[in-house]
Amino acid sequence: MVLSTMAAALRKVALVGGFGKLGSHILTALHADATLDVTVITRHTSSATFPPNTKVVKVSDGYPTSEMVSAFRDQHAVVLCLGFAGDKYHDSLVESSIKAGVKHLVASAYGGSESKEAIELFPIAARKGRMVEELRTRETPGWSWTAITCGLFFDLYAPPSALSSFINEIQLYLQRLFRLRPSCPQSHDLGFGQCGILRHERGYNRRSVAKVLAKPEATANRRVYISSFETSLNKILEAYKKATGVADWDVNHVKWDVEVASGKEMMKTGNMWGMGKLALAVEVKEGFGADFEKAGLLDNELLGIKRGDVEATVARVLKEKL
Ligand SMILES: NC(=O)c1ccc[n+]([C@@H]2O[C@H](COP(=O)([O-])OP(=O)(O)OC[C@H]3O[C@@H](n4cnc5c(N)ncnc54)[C@H](OP(=O)(O)O)[C@@H]3O)[C@@H](O)[C@H]2O)c1
Repeated sequence: MVLSTMAAALRKVALVGGFGKLGSHILTALHADATLDVTVITRHTSSATFPPNTKVVKVSDGYPTSEMVSAFRDQHAVVLCLGFAGDKYHDSLVESSIKAGVKHLVASAYGGSESKEAIELFPIAARKGRMVEELRTRETPGWSWTAITCGLFFDLYAPPSALSSFINEIQLYLQRLFRLRPSCPQSHDLGFGQCGILRHERGYNRRSVAKVLAKPEATANRRVYISSFETSLNKILEAYKKATGVADWDVNHVKWDVEVASGKEMMKTGNMWGMGKLALAVEVKEGFGADFEKAGLLDNELLGIKRGDVEATVARVLKEKL
């Protein structure tokens, strides 16, 4: 196999946020690639812990440029995986990577659609959109970026919550998060079957980072789109029925517009369930750009990332979380 010049050169990788909900998965995937020399960068004040033999560099809160330039120096690639509390430092970390002579940066994107509609409705889509715009302005010879675009992490949000231990609680959680409905004649309802898209396991995201580093030229200076599967709320319900053997579920029928209005109201009072409603709303509504497969955008093949299926994933989630 002929490796591209840049891919062959991206051996030394620094990961910022390697203990996070996604970052810990990315770290596992990077460690699994014996060709990579991985360093995790964490804050002195962090309570993060890492697997034995992980190379760790500690830095000050706020990622001061002088410290980051020296932490990134000699690294070929930087992978950013900052949570909401940390992503205000994204631009300065990008700048530090350029100053340090890093060749390629994987942005802390990992979000959903960039459509105008999604950006207008969902604040996180707007943040990610701005992040990508900023990356475009920074493009410079010898330095490139990739933003992995993936939609909701199915296995993170799939019920039950980590604390649930009874099937009844799963029903409650489903009711709150997905407001499932089994059939839907009206396309403006939230749970409509044909266009409702929820997908992407964190496992896919972690693999995609390692795959991007193996193909930096093909993924340079653009979003890459990955997906485990496209599914609908109705198919998810069917998968839960099959995996649990419970046929009778408590299903709420809700309207998309009403859910969106209530999500916005909740956000005004700082209730983060509102954010969840808006996240789901942009995923399931046709015309919001969430179906990357239908739009012909998927990069799974390019990256060699196999697709999964909703039934197997629901069965796994239930096994792992219960
Ligand atoms: N598509 C989806 O469904 C979805 C869902 C969740 C997240 N995401 C995306 O995945 C990426 C990572 O999110 P995450 O939820 O995995 O992140 P997270 O667990 O909340 O945090 C990741 C890391 O951010 C670092 N950090 C920097 N400054 C911080 C601060 N002031 N307070 C707390 N942590 C700080 C920490 O690293 P140290 O402690 O090591 O310093 C932390 O481990 C983000 O881009 C996010 O938007 C996408």
